[in-house]
Amino acid sequence: MDQCKIFTGNSNRQLAEKICNYLKLPLGKVKVGRFSDGEVSVKIEENVRGTDVFVVQSISSPVNENLMELLVMIDAARRASAERITAVLPYYGYARQDWKDQPRVPITAKLVANLITAAGANRVLTMDLHTPQIQGFFDIPLDHLFAAPVLIKYFRGLNLSNLVVVAPDVGSIKAARAFAKRLHASLAVVDKRRNSPESVEMMNVIGEIKGKNVVIVDDLIATGGTLCEAATTLKENGARNIYASITHGVLSGKATQNIAVSAIKALIITNTIPLREEKKFKKIKVLSVASLLGEAIKCIHLEKSVSSLFI
Ligand code: R5P
Repeated sequence: MDQCKIFTGNSNRQLAEKICNYLKLPLGKVKVGRFSDGEVSVKIEENVRGTDVFVVQSISSPVNENLMELLVMIDAARRASAERITAVLPYYGYARQDWKDQPRVPITAKLVANLITAAGANRVLTMDLHTPQIQGFFDIPLDHLFAAPVLIKYFRGLNLSNLVVVAPDVGSIKAARAFAKRLHASLAVVDKRRNSPESVEMMNVIGEIKGKNVVIVDDLIATGGTLCEAATTLKENGARNIYASITHGVLSGKATQNIAVSAIKALIITNTIPLREEKKFKKIKVLSVASLLGEAIKCIHLEKSVSSLFI
């Protein structure tokens, strides 16, 4: 692995360090700062000529700063003659604008894919994309991991009886079904209508949930509107304890306050996005995906299949 070098910006240094610990590699030396006018400044402080470079950076809040750092770091590695550059994006931001759902709006998920490619990335490693089709927005190889093995292991450990896995909207059904199968649970769906980016309305529950323990499965929690509304609807329909299993804790706006007063018993997220100190509270548990990402980096570097990581 001595030709494998891992660098990170400011978005999720803790995760990059954990990945390096897993791989027993030092974190690459790079200065990622700002010029006095706010422009991103990057200086890679070790030789990367001919090496296999991995740039770990989540496109999370502050989204534009972190995205720009990613692009500038890739550019720096390319101009320093790295042999290959992989953008490791534990959380791929801007993904929710992935089609023209109304006239005169952008498709930012595609724009960001173009930017990453234009900066010089040769491949992408990412996790639980908002929609799997975003893979096709890249014309370079992309490995798409799922946090499910880590999350499912946790829920197995809870030994929850009489379990139903719930998709809080149609977009989550596939992931919820896979969860349900592996937890030997039944499946239910909440019929969600989104009134605006900040407001959702839950209609009906499709499936049997009365008296059951519930795990709601989703790719991300932003304002918490989807999750809290789903929990209220499920409680009204007789659910027992309600847990949430979410890969990306975006936790924007009043998400943590909303969850604190909601019917959610525990929110389980991963560390694809760092949980800021002020957002920590007893209902939130963070699981690490560092070993999954580390193993994928190792497979990519050694040109081995990553499919064993999906099990
Ligand atoms: C929607 O399609 C996503 O899977 C999430 O359910 C949604 O983006 C979460 O957003 P919020 O927490 O603001 O409802």
